[in-house]
Amino acid sequence: MSHPQSTPESYSTVPAEKLVQQVEAAASLIRQRWQHIPRMGIILGTGLGNFAREIDAEAVIPYHDIPHFPKSTAVGHAGQLVCGRLRGLPVITMEGRFHTYEGYPTWQITLPVRVMHALGAGLLVVSNAAGAVNPHYCTGDVMAIEDHINLMGSNPLIGPTNDTLGARFPDMSLPYDFDLIERAQLIARQEDFVCHRGVYVALSGPNYETRAEYRFLHKIGGDVIGMSTVPEVIVAHQQGLRVLALSTVTNVCLPDALGETDGDEVVAAASSAERKLRAIVLGIADHLQQEIERG
Ligand code: HPA
Repeated sequence: MSHPQSTPESYSTVPAEKLVQQVEAAASLIRQRWQHIPRMGIILGTGLGNFAREIDAEAVIPYHDIPHFPKSTAVGHAGQLVCGRLRGLPVITMEGRFHTYEGYPTWQITLPVRVMHALGAGLLVVSNAAGAVNPHYCTGDVMAIEDHINLMGSNPLIGPTNDTLGARFPDMSLPYDFDLIERAQLIARQEDFVCHRGVYVALSGPNYETRAEYRFLHKIGGDVIGMSTVPEVIVAHQQGLRVLALSTVTNVCLPDALGETDGDEVVAAASSAERKLRAIVLGIADHLQQEIERG
């Protein structure tokens, strides 16, 4: 069965009622195929694609089966929803996400987050590949995002809204859950690797940055730079989800000693750090499961 709107919409905002209907239609298709309430939503970015194998899949739904879901065009993004159990915990996982550089407006990129919320998820884990401007970071390091700077030139909350979609002016003083960051760092210590905490700066891409841009991004307080995550986090926080976002450092961008950045190398570096991200996400799932068992 094919559905409308799997390609980028030509408009940057959408009528609120239409967005609510799209979310409901997508959620309803997923409920038909998988009758559980997800405790956790997971968005797998570059390099964490194999993580979906950790899930005891109960339903695998290609994005093109889901009404109004965009189509995944980025390298290394499979384009399917994996619904099932992670360490016994019901989870819904996006194998592949959407980016503004693919031509999607941010309201469309974040539709899956609204769908996860509609299905009952209370926590979102997001991963991405990023370039480090913090000179203390190394390729293959992991960073828990504790704050962000949105330089994408767009915001998923722009446009008509209503009570179902959430607050018009949501607070953004603490979009990333402090306890989850602490937990991620604890897991990293136990597993004997470093998990930094820092600031993610989001740009639209798709080109990597110039030397002057990297210099600027470090000066304004960025630790890592990427082309995703922030739209999803803004919507998740507006919807009241707890958020843990993890960056893998795929390249270190020192403006005065900058080598060329290559997309294939970025994907390879992200894959090499996969075990660290896997350890954190599994540890968070265990922790959540224990929280639930304790009531
Ligand atoms: N800049 C932007 N996005 C990225 C980078 C970068 O250097 N590396 C991986 N994603």
